[in-house]
Amino acid sequence: MTRVEPAGALRGAVAVPGDKSISHRGLLLGAVAEGETVVRGLLRAGDTESTIDALRALGVAIEDAGDAVTVRGAGLRGLAEPADPVDCGNAGTLVRLVAGLLAGQAGRRFELTGDESLRSRPMERVAEPLRRLGAGVETTAGRLPLRIEGRSLEGIEYALPVASAQVKSCVLLAGLYASGRTTVLEPLPTRDHTERMLRAAGARVEARPGRITVWPAERLSPLSIDVPGDFSAAAPLIAAATIVPGSELVLAGVGVNPTRTGFLHVLERMGARIQLFNRRTVGGEPVADIDVRHAELTATGIAPGEVPLLVDELPLFALVSAVAHGDSEVRGAQELRAKETDRIETVTTGLRRLGVHIAPRDDGFAVRGVPSRPRGGSMTSGGDHRIAMLGAVAGLASREGVQIEDAEAVAISFPGFFELLEGISVR
Ligand code: S3P
Repeated sequence: MTRVEPAGALRGAVAVPGDKSISHRGLLLGAVAEGETVVRGLLRAGDTESTIDALRALGVAIEDAGDAVTVRGAGLRGLAEPADPVDCGNAGTLVRLVAGLLAGQAGRRFELTGDESLRSRPMERVAEPLRRLGAGVETTAGRLPLRIEGRSLEGIEYALPVASAQVKSCVLLAGLYASGRTTVLEPLPTRDHTERMLRAAGARVEARPGRITVWPAERLSPLSIDVPGDFSAAAPLIAAATIVPGSELVLAGVGVNPTRTGFLHVLERMGARIQLFNRRTVGGEPVADIDVRHAELTATGIAPGEVPLLVDELPLFALVSAVAHGDSEVRGAQELRAKETDRIETVTTGLRRLGVHIAPRDDGFAVRGVPSRPRGGSMTSGGDHRIAMLGAVAGLASREGVQIEDAEAVAISFPGFFELLEGISVR
């Protein structure tokens, strides 16, 4: 149980942990490259420790010098068959992406599993395209454990039934092993870190809007990766500084890949005062410093087409719209039900307990904005890191503070989150 007291203001300049999506991908591509990949600024958190452990179980040597991690690539076809099931912990990105690599390890069998949350999440979405590529794949009633038999693969054209970067990445990674080219058609743009990193490793990838093609690869080159700060870790701080009166916060070195920053555009539309400066490119990814000041907000709606660009920030959108003038809503976000928790459920029950007027919908939620501090109270994270951070931001913005049960879930993506909040809170 952790309590977050109301803040008078948030002030300071801070850095956020390394990007989770880029960290997973750096480790995974490094594992199948030829030679040594060095990842600096890697996210050190529950999810990426799961990736390091899983890759070691697959026979990959990883040298951990704290701030730099060296992955000795086993080559595209060099992942070893482990004796035991590979435990992916809480990490959806790990299980979906590694499945694509394992599908191409011809003649070897693998079993993937995870924690209780991951075992409840849908896996047929990756099993189906991998079977079409030619791998032997079995789910357990659509979920984990997932059994994969690597085989020789053939290129396919695959239309994603849901806009998911994890599924897109899984198919593209398996496509490296196929005999012809593999094309993924995506209904809406999703994060493109895999495409960028594959190109940097020498793979041929062509992306047009809605259509990404990868060609078979003989080998991947090792990379030297500087991981930018995670926009999704910056987002709770951006939300907090926007809604807590008197705040002014600078977040240094945050990844601002346009496939990730939908929340910025939504906040700007609501009247937020956010400025990006020191724009630069780090390892093929756009990075900036972000200055955020408190602002009065007006309500807005999120349309289905925008959802993938802020999918992990929608819980925070619920909170910022709760203190905006007017009524807000999110539509076309059914995918929230397939995250670490059913986030339509955990966001709406959690925020209602704090006095927010929010109602669930099948594919999103509707919020009645009241431009004053929410009451506060107690809520549970349900073991979901993003819900724990939502509760904390609500606490800072509340009148009475917020008590968060299972708050330690933040360690999945942002260890030290509460200490950082403490450091920037002015009482
Ligand atoms: C991720 C993609 C998103 C996101 C997750 C990380 C990734 O999931 O919610 O936190 O790194 O590819 P989906 O692509 O399944 O929506």
